[in-house]
Parts: sequence; C-alpha cells; structure tokens
Amino acid sequence: MVDYDPFSPEVLDDPYPIYRRLRDESPVHYLEAHNAWALARFDDVWNASQDNVHLTAERGTSWPYLVTKAIPALPNLNHMDPPAQTQLRSAMMHYFMPRRVRGLESRIRGFVTDCIDEFIDEGEADVVTQLGQIVAVRVACMAVGFPESDAGYIIDLVKRFLAREDGVEDMTESGVNAFAEMIAYLEGLAADRRSFDGEPEHPIDILLQAEVDGERLSDALIGQHLILMLVGGTETFPKVFSTSVLRLAQYPDQREELIRDPSLIPAALRECLRYDMPTQFLMRSVKKQCEIGGQTLREGQSVMFLYPSANRDEREFDQPDRFDIHRVSPRILSFGQGVHRCLGANFAEMEGKVLLEEMLSRMPHYEVDESRIVHDRTEFIRGFQSMPIRF
Ligand code: HEM
Repeated sequence: MVDYDPFSPEVLDDPYPIYRRLRDESPVHYLEAHNAWALARFDDVWNASQDNVHLTAERGTSWPYLVTKAIPALPNLNHMDPPAQTQLRSAMMHYFMPRRVRGLESRIRGFVTDCIDEFIDEGEADVVTQLGQIVAVRVACMAVGFPESDAGYIIDLVKRFLAREDGVEDMTESGVNAFAEMIAYLEGLAADRRSFDGEPEHPIDILLQAEVDGERLSDALIGQHLILMLVGGTETFPKVFSTSVLRLAQYPDQREELIRDPSLIPAALRECLRYDMPTQFLMRSVKKQCEIGGQTLREGQSVMFLYPSANRDEREFDQPDRFDIHRVSPRILSFGQGVHRCLGANFAEMEGKVLLEEMLSRMPHYEVDESRIVHDRTEFIRGFQSMPIRF
C-alpha cells in the first residue's frame, strides 16, 4: 500500500521515489483525507487533461481553491470550461503565438544581457534572483501589458503569495494578504486602462473589451485573469531555468555539446522541462462520474494531475531518469495538455532559449555551488529560491 501525502517531508525532499511507486502500484490513487484522486501515469494525465465532459476546472485547479478552499475560485481563464473558456482564450491567443514571440526575441535578449552585464565582472551570481526571476517578470510585463516599472513590486507579491510554512498544509497568512494586494493592484491596472479606446495593444485590452455570456468583464474579474498570467509567468519559469543550469553543470559533456552547437539548445530545454517539471500538480474536479484505470471517480471528488510523475513514466519514456539532451519526446506534460495547455509556453521556450544561449556564450564554464542552493519546500511548485554560480 503506497502512502502518498503531498505534504510529507519525504515528498517535499524528493518526490520521485514515491511517484515511481504510485505509477507501479497505485496509478489512480485515492487520498482519503482529501477526497481526491492522484493520477501518476503519463497516459492517464494526458487523457484526463483533455476530458471536459467528466472533469471541470470551474471549481478551481489547485489545492487552496479546491481542497482547503482558502481562496474562492473566481472564473479566470484557468477556472473556466469550454465553450466560454475557448472563446476568451482565442481572443487572447494572438498575443502568445510563435510569430509575436519571435518578433520580441531581441527585446527578451536585451532583458537578459542587461542582467548579465550587472554581474559579469563579479565572477559570481545567483541565477534565480539575479537572472531567471528578473527576466521572467520583465517578459510577463511585456507579454501581458503590466508596467515594467512595477517589476520589482510584482516579484515580491508573487513570492509572498506562493510562500509556504513547514508543517502548514495551506497558504500562509502573508500569502493570503499578498493575494488580496495583488488583486487590488491588478484591478487598479484594469480600471486605469478602461479609458483607453484605441486598437488593443496587449491582453489587458482584450480582457477589457471581451464579453462572456453577453456581459463585459468587471475590473475585479480582469484582475483574476491577470493574476493567472502573473503567477504563471513569474514563478515557474525561474525554477525551470535554474534546474536547467544545474543539470548542464552536472552533465558537462552535454553542456560542451551545447557550447559547440547552440542550435541544440531548444531540444535540450525540452529535456530540462521534462526532467524537472516544477509544478507538482494541478487539479480538476469530477462533474460527471467516470472511470480511470479501473477506479470510479465520483461527482464532486478532486483529481490531481501529477505532472512530474507523468514526465518520468517509463511507459512513455525510455529510461526516464536519464537526462539526455538528444532524447526525442513527442509528448511531454510540462505545459499541461488540452484546452488549458499553457498560454505562455512560447514565451517560456523563448526566454529559456535566449537565457541558455547567453549564459553558454558569456560564462560557458560556470560552476554551481550546490552547497548553497536554497530549495523551496512547497507541495505546489518545487525548485530553487536561490542558486549561486561562479564563473
Ligand atoms: C516554464 C514556465 C511555465 C510552465 C512550466 C507553465 C506551466 C503551465 C501549465 C502546466 C498549465 C496548465 C494549467 C492547467 O491545465 O490547469 C499552464 C497554464 C497557463 N499558463 Fe503557464 N507555464 C509557464 C509559463 C507561463 C508564462 C510565461 C505565462 C504567461 C506569460 C503563462 C500563462 C499561463 C496561462 C494564462 C495558463 C492558463 C491557460 C488556460 O487555462 O487556458 N505560463 N501553464
């Protein structure tokens, strides 16, 4: 019998051994204490992510919304089902398409080189706080339309929102306050922009003009949509980037290949995304009874998609625990799948590519000081708060 508790110290330290046991022994696993099912295998997560008949995102997609109900699941894009979700998402899609993102590559490179110029003469830096986080926030601001001058404030808000305390299976009080502050800030942004009546310039303008069920969105609701883009773009990305930097230091032969041939970087980044997916799970709830892997999931129960487990499923990937930049993996789950597949994926891939290109060109033989890495201990987004390098 596998005893899986997403908050247990073993899982917080290293979830991969228990994920393997879940895949082998209890792939559709019931967590009695929370009336929730955890899906551990690739195929189950992949298929359930595309099932909008039996599963709904409307009650929320993460623990504080669905399980502890610490905060209400207001209907942002991620908490909507088709067809309303599809309509709104399509209206914003244009701003997230590869063409627009490619057109912004030189500005993204500018953000990266600005950061690197700040510390290049020091011979050391923190790749999370001095590079990944700053670039992620500046890119999110540019992509979504947040004022770039607010970047520092935004980093602080997101950090407070996502912070967890050891032994507390919920948001911290300061997290709940940061959430309220974030909503107020974003509502204010929406309200200020209402008087703008020109051609839409970014997703905020689309939200201001959009109608759902024949009604314009309120400032409060636009705030909810923006919070999603803010958190999505600023917390996960630095985690992916810093673990990529670590893996390349741990596999110097593969790093040498990338230094010699930077055109391999996008494929290498895909392997980094597969190998170290930071988001431990997102959720749905059952709106119509269904069966997965021989288990019956009943109306009202929650369902967890264990993405990092799925990305290391030996049924999908050959030797999944081997890090290999030459691996060909047609399907990965790092950006989710189905109608809620990450809207910012093209931005994330572009940021990652540019960051690795610049790092491997300007400080190719950096060393990671693994003894000084600071880990985030949260059930939700796993990764590093701080990771010092020398070069
Ligand atoms: C490496 C960085 C990133 C990772 C690993 C990531 C991961 C994900 C995942 C797994 C989902 C699926 C959610 C679900 O199915 O419930 C998602 C959705 C989303 N992501 Fe990302 N994301 C990243 C970067 C970004 C960026 C840069 C942005 C925006 C600028 C963004 C905006 C969004 C939005 C708006 C959604 C919701 C889409 C919807 O519900 O229709 N993400 N992301």
